[in-house]
Amino acid sequence: MKIKHSEFVISNTDFNKCPKADKPEYAFIGRSNVGKSSLINMLMGRKQLAKVSGRPGKTQLINHFIVNNEWYLVDLPGYGWAKVSKTDKSKWAKMTKDYLENRENLACVFVLIDSRHEPQKIDLEFISYLGENRLPFAMIFTKTDKQSPNKSQSNMAKFRKALAKDWENIPPCFLTSSAHKTGRDEVLDFIEEINGE
Ligand code: GTP
Ligand code: MG
Repeated sequence: MKIKHSEFVISNTDFNKCPKADKPEYAFIGRSNVGKSSLINMLMGRKQLAKVSGRPGKTQLINHFIVNNEWYLVDLPGYGWAKVSKTDKSKWAKMTKDYLENRENLACVFVLIDSRHEPQKIDLEFISYLGENRLPFAMIFTKTDKQSPNKSQSNMAKFRKALAKDWENIPPCFLTSSAHKTGRDEVLDFIEEINGE
């Protein structure tokens, strides 16, 4: 898919205030600092569409972007940030759960996973939650430029193996690097395929 246009629309804490649910929507979620905002910029071919930061917890709202006037892309705050208070954690959980469980045009949730690590409980738990709620998802393994291709492949294989315990058919997985701009066509073509369904 060619990206002809991408534009920020609105930030919300309340899913009820999100744009009218009249276009397919793709949400990006994962641990704080996993590279969600960087990936969104890489996919859109923009430097600073979504705000990037070395400090975890940068994205704190539900951020809507419109792409090619055809679909919505959503940058969500990261989970598992140790430094936030309990109150903030439950605020995050409520906002995100309300959004995920009620947004009727949600076509796919992209779960971002750091390709440098072996399977982490928090990511596996989040995927179980998506499964329990029958939410369609795919996985994106980020920051592959940080180690050898073999290491990224092996961590992805371990993750798939961990999922195989619960899942008969494991959803698609993508390897990406926002720094090296790899995996872009694969993710965009996948979105195009779903949009065409
Ligand atoms: P929160 O909004 O805080 O949850 O973080 P996020 O998941 O949006 O991460 P963000 O895109 O802000 O990136 C976090 C840090 O990782 C930044 O310092 C980025 O420059 C860096 N980063 C993101 N993606 C990549 C990548 O593919 N390769 C490398 N080397 N660094 C990356
Ligand atoms: Mg972010």
